[in-house]
Amino acid sequence: MKDQKNLKKDFPIFSSKAAKKDGKELVYLDSASTTQKPQIVIDSISEYYKTSNANIHRGIYTLSEKATAQYEEARQKTQNFLNAHSANEIIFTRNTTEAINLLAYTFGEKYINEGDEVIVSELEHHSNLIPWQEVVKRKKAILKVIPIKFDYTLDMDAYHALLSPKTKLVAITAMSNVLGTKTPLKEIIESAHKKNAVVLVDGAQSATHQKTDVKALDCDFFTMSSHKMLGPTGVGVLYGKEEILKELPPFMFGGDMIKSVSQYNSVYADIPAKFEAGTPNVAGVIGFGIALDYLQKVGFKTIEQNDKALFSYAVKKLSAHKEVTLLTPPADKNGPVISFTVKGIHPHDIADILSQDNVCIRAGHHCAQPLMEKLGIPATARISFHIYNTPEDIDKMDKTLQKAIKIFE
Ligand SMILES: Cc1ncc(COP(=O)(O)O)c(C=O)c1O
Repeated sequence: MKDQKNLKKDFPIFSSKAAKKDGKELVYLDSASTTQKPQIVIDSISEYYKTSNANIHRGIYTLSEKATAQYEEARQKTQNFLNAHSANEIIFTRNTTEAINLLAYTFGEKYINEGDEVIVSELEHHSNLIPWQEVVKRKKAILKVIPIKFDYTLDMDAYHALLSPKTKLVAITAMSNVLGTKTPLKEIIESAHKKNAVVLVDGAQSATHQKTDVKALDCDFFTMSSHKMLGPTGVGVLYGKEEILKELPPFMFGGDMIKSVSQYNSVYADIPAKFEAGTPNVAGVIGFGIALDYLQKVGFKTIEQNDKALFSYAVKKLSAHKEVTLLTPPADKNGPVISFTVKGIHPHDIADILSQDNVCIRAGHHCAQPLMEKLGIPATARISFHIYNTPEDIDKMDKTLQKAIKIFE
């Protein structure tokens, strides 16, 4: 774990005096919500504003060309990161939520009609549920839901039974933000394609913890958020297969997404510009490119090793308390997310007591209320890790948790 200690040093928040509470060091166990940022990402944003700030794609002058080149370089980095066929398949959005809404409006409007079916799962974050609820309402289509089994994995038999010639789209998370469950994407995608349905993979949780290869997966769409990938907030990605994106109508209208405009009619730009109306988050996208460089430099092998080691260690520590119930799928189907409940203590109280010792965890329904309903609980406490976490963080969390259990006994 020596390497991890060194990596923690890359993230200035952990040595910041301001992040200490009553002299206690920050223990951050909420990376599934958003990750901390390495110094190089923070520097890249300030460097951009200091040396290259100009609007992109428009200016003929050198500064604008420089900003445009950096922005487009980030698009190429994203293409390489996902192993996409072309940089045109990368659309920058504000976040995963906007990427999914973009798709729901454009694909939903064009291809989903009365009586058609859209499949989601019980694991979905509200961001990959509500946009589809709205599409099916608008289009008089039908929403079908893949249930989970008692081991918190997807019921794949049920999935196969739900697929039909009317299935137009399957929208599925790659990794649950509540239970950590990884879904069998290959099988889901192959089966959907046999029915001529397209597949959107919500990679908001997975893209920052495991290698993504959209070519090998053969998914039609993939979404992710920079802020969960050590990058800045305000940047998301929609990957889409070029041949499908080309046929979709624009999502938002205005500057930058046009070829030509006359008083009563306009001709729209080709992808990706067609989907990027208005001035984008230039500094954020450039910072995101640097975050991708950093993630790849650390490497997914190291990230996964650390995730697995921390996961086992945290499970061991938490299981030692008879009051704790873990909601985790089998270890080989699990990302670095652990939801748990403690008998007699509301998850909000757990988070509150931990916060007194400067330990940050998430408590609540995690934007997955239908999943909570299925589990029969209003909320869970959730810890989640990234590359800057160490076993000492788990120890500190566990020490305060023991205190909380004693207080409520
Ligand atoms: C699985 C999943 N999908 C989608 C989202 C939405 O991401 P964002 O808030 O960046 O749009 C989240 C955020 O937690 C998530 O965990």
